[in-house]
Amino acid sequence: MKPREIVPDVLAVGAQDFDRRLFDALIPLPDGTSYNAYLVRGRDKTALIDTVEPAMLHVLQARLKEVTRVDYLISNHTEQDHSGSIPWVLERYPGVQLLSSELAKPMLIGHLGLDPARIRTVADGERLDLGGKTLRFITTPWVHWPETMSTYLEEDKVLFSCDWFGSHIASTDLFVDGADSIMAEAKRYYAEIMMPFRKIVQKNLEKIRDLDIRMIAPSHGPIHRDPGSIIRAYRDWTDDAPHNTVVIPWVTMHGSTALLVERLVGALSERGITVFPFNLATADIGQLAMSLVDAATLIVASPTVHVGPHPMALYAVVLANALRPKVRFASIVGSYGWAGKMADVVKASMPNLKVELLPPVICKGLPKPSDMEAVDQLAEAVAAKHREIGLL
Ligand code: FEO
Repeated sequence: MKPREIVPDVLAVGAQDFDRRLFDALIPLPDGTSYNAYLVRGRDKTALIDTVEPAMLHVLQARLKEVTRVDYLISNHTEQDHSGSIPWVLERYPGVQLLSSELAKPMLIGHLGLDPARIRTVADGERLDLGGKTLRFITTPWVHWPETMSTYLEEDKVLFSCDWFGSHIASTDLFVDGADSIMAEAKRYYAEIMMPFRKIVQKNLEKIRDLDIRMIAPSHGPIHRDPGSIIRAYRDWTDDAPHNTVVIPWVTMHGSTALLVERLVGALSERGITVFPFNLATADIGQLAMSLVDAATLIVASPTVHVGPHPMALYAVVLANALRPKVRFASIVGSYGWAGKMADVVKASMPNLKVELLPPVICKGLPKPSDMEAVDQLAEAVAAKHREIGLL
């Protein structure tokens, strides 16, 4: 496919990766992904913004085939899905100058073995005049690594945001077709890589509040021509207030924990709370992460394997702990055969979550009526907490 123009003299030259199904050997990609790169042509100079995952270099090479000169290569983010093809660009265009944030320079050298002499660092707010096209560099840390910056094209009011505002989608459509069509994927993407830095993302949103943005061109997924929708969604996702929802990652071996979860889901929903249960034997981890974005409460449900939690439950807890959602309350339900420290291990595995722990419900063997009553009491305790913070 040939490069396509997104605004006059700005071309999309990146690659769609329809077949990729996993990122970082961790993140499911049900819709593939894309590595967007953009060529900005001024009267005097040409700049390339970001590159592509090396596995898709052939696409970038084909799209730049007719481009004989690039003066600047801008690296908004050092992760290899955007920077991995920089060495080829430096070789193909011997005169190109690589521009990055100050923090990115040692990372580019470390990850890609680049010659430091090819890299010039740019300051926050610095401008680059290409001749009728002026690029402004805006440091936007932790979206998604510490060195990340965004690049703003002043004349056309386009924000090249790299990971920020992106979504893992491979698509032949250049632009988002109605905000609703992209929001679930954009939220999933935010959950997976930006939620841990929620507070800093809030600050970045403040930083661009007064920027006149007509279009957001991220480096994953389609381009936003309605930037207000995705910015509003980010404000909601990063807001300190959770929603009236409970996430229950659960796993069962012989059915006891499943019975507790079934009762709990019913008891919570009867009290007006939206519940997202995830059977970890089959769950899409991306959807679990997405549900954690807004949840007020996390309840982990696990049987006891030897003396500890089921490894799948522990995986979910470790993941939640790493993603640092804004959950305010947590609890544990589960079962054991003869003895164990399942609840203690789960509790100790989520130190990053600043939660109030509600009394766990742990039963021996098959749940008895008293265990089910304890589950109802837990649901009531959750409802009371949600009421306390104004969610119910
Ligand atoms: Fe798409 Fe953090 O790289």
